[in-house]
Amino acid sequence: MLDLTTPKDMRAWSRAERARGRSVGFVPTMGALHEGHLLLVDRAKQRTDRVVLSVFVNPLQFGPQEDFAKYPRDVARDTQLAAERGVDCLFVPDGTAMYPEQPLVRVAPGPMADTLEGAVRPGHFAGVLTVVAKLLHIVEPDVAVFGRKDFQQAMLVRRMAADLDFPLEVEIAPTVRELDGLALSSRNAYLGGDQRRSALALSRALRAVEQAWRSGEADPKTLQRRGMDVLRAPGVAPDYLELVDEQLHPVRRADARTVVVIAARIGATRLIDNVVLGEGIASDVAVRGM
Ligand code: PAJ
Repeated sequence: MLDLTTPKDMRAWSRAERARGRSVGFVPTMGALHEGHLLLVDRAKQRTDRVVLSVFVNPLQFGPQEDFAKYPRDVARDTQLAAERGVDCLFVPDGTAMYPEQPLVRVAPGPMADTLEGAVRPGHFAGVLTVVAKLLHIVEPDVAVFGRKDFQQAMLVRRMAADLDFPLEVEIAPTVRELDGLALSSRNAYLGGDQRRSALALSRALRAVEQAWRSGEADPKTLQRRGMDVLRAPGVAPDYLELVDEQLHPVRRADARTVVVIAARIGATRLIDNVVLGEGIASDVAVRGM
């Protein structure tokens, strides 16, 4: 596996591959890799000849009170996992390579970034889309793969690519969960034993909504109440549970395409999760404990 650190080398490698007729897939991450990230690598490998994975903890998307400083970083472990999974090129730029000076121009994500995560984390999605736009311009992939775990982010990236004519395809992969339902997240590393148990309230709440919908309930308010009853568990501070469409608008009636999005704090750790009602949690990918 090739290891690159500068945007210039990264772009040169990608262009050389494409000049040889090979397609390039791209998986952007902030590292602390887990099976969720590695599933995105599998997806990229299925679609393209060469796969690039980037590791960059992007300061622009963290609020001043958020966990940028303590975000888990382990490049040696990430390098090993990426190589084992068949990544062809690992791109790990440092802060000055990505931001030689404080960027003045940023991507304005528009109204899809004002709700849900965007309402709780002002400026977050401008930071995400700005770094994703930069990375896409550096790697110039044919396909970029994102996880549905971060549903609002995936929808925003897809809209940015469409609205701003990025010449690539955005693929969205299902959520990888532990066998008990907890969605994998680099932030799960912050959870102590009791908190790990409390965190199960998120997937349980999603399942409760899904079951109620399958039994014929389609009123979003009723479904929301059903989920909230489960989410309000000891040690869990719910942020939101909403039923939305792909534009993140609240739905009037739940159908198979409706997405239930959820966020809660377990102690100081904020977790998010979601389920597409028609697909269900069972259609996500389950892996044994990490
Ligand atoms: P990060 O949280 O590291 O996630 C990188 C990618 O992995 C995202 O597309 C995310 O949705 C996906 N992912 C995370 N957990 C997953 C899970 N359990 N199952 C499936 N996919 C999962 O998201 C970011 O980094 C950043 O915002 C980034 C896009 C890299 C921009 O900085």
